[in-house]
Amino acid sequence: MQRFSIAALLSATLLASAQVSARLDLARGEKLHNAHCTACHGSMTGGDGTALYTRSPRLVNSMQELTARVRRCASGLDLMWFGKDIADVVHYLNEGYYRFGE
Ligand code: HEC
Repeated sequence: MQRFSIAALLSATLLASAQVSARLDLARGEKLHNAHCTACHGSMTGGDGTALYTRSPRLVNSMQELTARVRRCASGLDLMWFGKDIADVVHYLNEGYYRFGE
């Protein structure tokens, strides 16, 4: 049951990112990321926080996992981000660090 709803959530996420992919905004993703995400990660790594994205092993190993993780971290902050906010930050993290083929 829970497995099913996670699969449904992932497909909905993929669909949402496919719809906005033509308008992904790298600079906007970077701005959102730096405003909301680096402080906490930095306190964990003792640096600017980006070490989390290049550590080995990484938590995230695919675009799906990256999107799910960004959603989870953002919802922990009560940011109320919409599809485009998530998609732009995922785009920024993938271009800058993860480099999964899209
Ligand atoms: C309150 C602290 C906190 C904030 C704020 C936070 N994160 Fe995280 N993030 C974590 C923790 C803790 C982990 C590692 C979880 C683990 O190792 O199990 C993590 C891991 C991640 C990873 C996976 C790293 C890997 O190993 O591949 C990504 C991607 C990520 N966060 C994105 C974000 C984004 C985007 C934001 C801003 C919306 C954000 N995080 C805000 C605590 C936070």
